[in-house]
Amino acid sequence: MFEVMKEFEDFVPKLTNDGSFTFFSDEYGELFHSYHGARQEAELKFVEPTHLAQKAREPSLRILDICYGLGYNTATALATIWTINPNCCVEVVGLELNPTVPQAAIAHQLFSWTSIFQILTQLVAEHQVQTDYLKATLLIGDARATIEQVQRSGFQADAIFLDPFSPPNCPQLWTVEFLERVSKCLCLDGRIATYSCAAAVRTGLMATGLQIGSTQPVGRRSPGTVASWVASDLPVLSRQEQEHLVTRAAIPYRDPHLCDTAAVILHRRQEEQHASLLEPTSNWRKRTSPKKGVGEPALQEGSHCVGEPALQEGLPP
Ligand SMILES: C[S@@+](CC[C@H](N)C(=O)[O-])C[C@H]1O[C@@H](n2cnc3c(N)ncnc32)[C@H](O)[C@@H]1O
Repeated sequence: MFEVMKEFEDFVPKLTNDGSFTFFSDEYGELFHSYHGARQEAELKFVEPTHLAQKAREPSLRILDICYGLGYNTATALATIWTINPNCCVEVVGLELNPTVPQAAIAHQLFSWTSIFQILTQLVAEHQVQTDYLKATLLIGDARATIEQVQRSGFQADAIFLDPFSPPNCPQLWTVEFLERVSKCLCLDGRIATYSCAAAVRTGLMATGLQIGSTQPVGRRSPGTVASWVASDLPVLSRQEQEHLVTRAAIPYRDPHLCDTAAVILHRRQEEQHASLLEPTSNWRKRTSPKKGVGEPALQEGSHCVGEPALQEGLPP
């Protein structure tokens, strides 16, 4: 057992099924990762779909980590790239609202599995790291504002990780206007990955001109989403997923001036859904849900933890 300062008491490590730890957010009522595994999620929902292992052969790579959180996505990306090519120069920009989250992850020693934990520790303490092979910056603030800073700097990412809490709990970071800003930071052959398969997230991404594909379901029944400027190498959506995109669930979140509260954004979308002539999503669900035990599982939009079992609280080894 080790002592952790009082300010980190809000963030108690919870063991996930792959042996890695996450936190639960009382504010959002959600886990920070799927209970199937924080590390597994970082690898399979973010690093793999953005093809970083293949791209690691390049001399340099740029990553934008939206909602840095504990830092699993950045940690897993760097570990993957440098295992393949230790000489790859990586530039990372992380966006995070609450600096206590990454600080608590470091204080709880959640990154003892990787040799880059010292780099992560410095990044969290000083908000920047510069070495021969890494330039990393952690921008603290509302990502709706800091994304502007990233865009103005001309940063063009090869990989963007989009990892906010679920759309019903954090709609601010899933709106067409925010995604528009995000898309401006993606290079021509870059990819955006997210764990969400929500129809509104997918149409939000498409509204920016991006093409979308489905990522492999991991541990749970739903796939994630990958987006890029070119459709040719994206995994195609199933017919069920395509039909989901023409139901009322596909009406995207909007935040015209990038400053509305979650309640205002949710209300605006609800009004639009009520007035919509699109098929009610409940009809689509009835049509596409298989009879018990038969056929394909129904597509479920999820958060990191909806309906999932309580996790054991524990200390990292
Ligand atoms: C699901 S967690 C991200 C997990 C993280 N990617 C990881 O690998 O550990 C969502 C994060 O978004 C942050 N967040 C919430 N609202 C935000 C905002 N408006 N701007 C930036 N970050 C925000 C939360 O503090 C939380 O750390």
